[in-house]
Amino acid sequence: MRREFRWPRLLTPNGGGIAYGGDYNPDQWPESVWNEDIELMRRAHVNTVALAIFSWSRIQPREDEWDFDWLDRIIAKLGEAGIAVDLASATASAPMWLYERHPEVLPRDRFGHVVNPGSRQSWSPTSPVFKEYALAMCRRLAERYGDNPTVTAWHIGNEYGWNNRHDYSDSAQAAFRDWCERRYGSVEALNDAWGTAFWSQHVNSFSEVLIPRHMGGDSMVNPAQQLDFERFGNDMLLDFYKAERDAIEAICPDKPFTTNFMVSTDQCVMDYAQWSDEVDFVSNDHYFHEGESHLDELACSDALMGGLAQGKPWYVMEHSTSGVQWKPLNARKRHGELVRDALAHVAFGADAINFFQWRQSRSGAEAFHSAMVPHAGADSALFREVCELGESLQALSDAGIQGSEMERSRAAILFHADSEWATRSETLPTMKLNHWHDVRDWYRAFLDAGLRADVTPLRDDWSGYDIIVLPTVLVLSDADARRIAEFAASGGTVVVGYATGLVDESFRVGLGGYPGAGGGLLRDVLGVRTEEFNIVGDEAQGEASAVGLSNGACSRLWQSVATVADGEADDVAVLATYEGEGAEDWELGGMPALTRHAYGAGVGYYVGCDLRREDIARFVEAEFGDASIRADSRLMHTRRIGVDENGNRVAFDFYLNRGPKKPVNVPEFTGVPLVEHRCAPVAGVAHGRVLQRNGVLITRQRLD
Ligand code: GAL
Repeated sequence: MRREFRWPRLLTPNGGGIAYGGDYNPDQWPESVWNEDIELMRRAHVNTVALAIFSWSRIQPREDEWDFDWLDRIIAKLGEAGIAVDLASATASAPMWLYERHPEVLPRDRFGHVVNPGSRQSWSPTSPVFKEYALAMCRRLAERYGDNPTVTAWHIGNEYGWNNRHDYSDSAQAAFRDWCERRYGSVEALNDAWGTAFWSQHVNSFSEVLIPRHMGGDSMVNPAQQLDFERFGNDMLLDFYKAERDAIEAICPDKPFTTNFMVSTDQCVMDYAQWSDEVDFVSNDHYFHEGESHLDELACSDALMGGLAQGKPWYVMEHSTSGVQWKPLNARKRHGELVRDALAHVAFGADAINFFQWRQSRSGAEAFHSAMVPHAGADSALFREVCELGESLQALSDAGIQGSEMERSRAAILFHADSEWATRSETLPTMKLNHWHDVRDWYRAFLDAGLRADVTPLRDDWSGYDIIVLPTVLVLSDADARRIAEFAASGGTVVVGYATGLVDESFRVGLGGYPGAGGGLLRDVLGVRTEEFNIVGDEAQGEASAVGLSNGACSRLWQSVATVADGEADDVAVLATYEGEGAEDWELGGMPALTRHAYGAGVGYYVGCDLRREDIARFVEAEFGDASIRADSRLMHTRRIGVDENGNRVAFDFYLNRGPKKPVNVPEFTGVPLVEHRCAPVAGVAHGRVLQRNGVLITRQRLD
């Protein structure tokens, strides 16, 4: 059951508009700074802040001492200025006194070492003691601020799992046994699912079930046990979130709840499809990937957020105005990039644009992380850009963008948290598999081909799309294999990647040839059968580390040793075979690498090897491209559709320079420009623009 979609109201006359602001940590500054904060927020058009995320020790400085006065004062000031508060449960970082009194709440690492306090989330999600303290805080906040009109949403925790995703404490061990008992019902079922006949892992009772602690040397964990441990950790944190939410909701039921996900760069920590059911609106923290993939990666993460939000608008809870401080090299954003990134999030369905954080810290681990008000102060290029962004968002709000929904693409790339976790197992043909990276490569390849795909959780309903792509969806249950086969049989196009459908939800390999998902059903969709995998790489010195394809493509890691299945020769079109020196050396010459198969009313494609992005793009363009609407692939375009005050449908079109370095033309747009950022007119062409580096054009038009 999914919770009903509820969006926080702003303190604007009609409660609407794009929420703009950031994490605000006034408790880290003397109160003398607060008035200037408010004055600058107003100047920047800030209308919302996330407050008290890390304020536990300030609110409860000792076990029996509570101090809300400062919070009362700042909330009042914000309210007077028309700035809404997204109030945190304040539990993301616990006070030192709690750890001193109750060291048993601390998590342990896989070696059994205590994880020391001093950072964030130094608590075990299965610790009943910690939960008691956290829920007491939630109740106090709900009692005090539940009726406060300035507080318009609840921000529960912060980035659950950032520091306590894997806990190997004794309380986790006990909870894991209970979790397994609930999942499997009987110990026989668990033995069967985990394949415990292997290495004498058979258990006679749930009390013998272990969490995968370090077992010495390079010992490999049973992958089914590991996958369950990932699910368990996800579930424990989700339970913790729900307990905090419910504690507040029991006192204050009428304000929406969220918690910030971490969908970006290399992170996709939780099974966010599940989490999305438990929030009233989904929100995300997105940190950019430096380099040429910056905008594409942002778009791909946002596409997944759109999928998690099931088409509804979603919330950027954090992103950065410029560089972060937690990577080996922290690139700053160039001029115009701050505005471009924020507008790109809006282009992909966000109705809230927030940063970490409002004022750049003076002390602590994040002093060199960028913020809305930098160390240099308000007289700075960065703050001027923050103000410029505020104006653009205001213009979009005034044009009624809030609540409009993204236009769907024809194709959905399917994302699956289980597969993301499973590809990290050390027991696969290669340790270089990565589901999320392959999703991203496919996403970028669609853009390269002048198309755009959505990204949708596997468990959701994607039956309305024409095309689904399954890149390294390693884990497929029988039920999912059936859904995919039915989709193809009824006219859909299914693209199956090289390492898709190899194991079921218990990491059991499907037999009879790969991919064995669904007892061979996926093979039937493809008409192709793989017997072995050919794994290559630079590590094997003196061996060919790449294998070419007859269409000029190149594979550098994995080639399925496949043949057309018996009786399928007439229905399978071999689009490319392995060819050339590498192929001959590995005895793959002439074998099918890329195939298309008619299945029912639809089609099953098999991409039997990893390919470079440009090769995937050529495949996408050749098979799914539309020559009649061939656009410059350096121009990114999205559309949001809403309804105006008279009930007419309106379209908001977003054009972004995907460049990144060269200008790109918007040859002919329709509608009225709302925002022109780093955007130049074209002499003599009223509806043409040139987008400079980091350029964005947003237009509005009536559709009916
Ligand atoms: C997030 C976190 C913020 C801040 C930010 C820095 O993970 O939620 O509190 O630490 O990263 O990039």
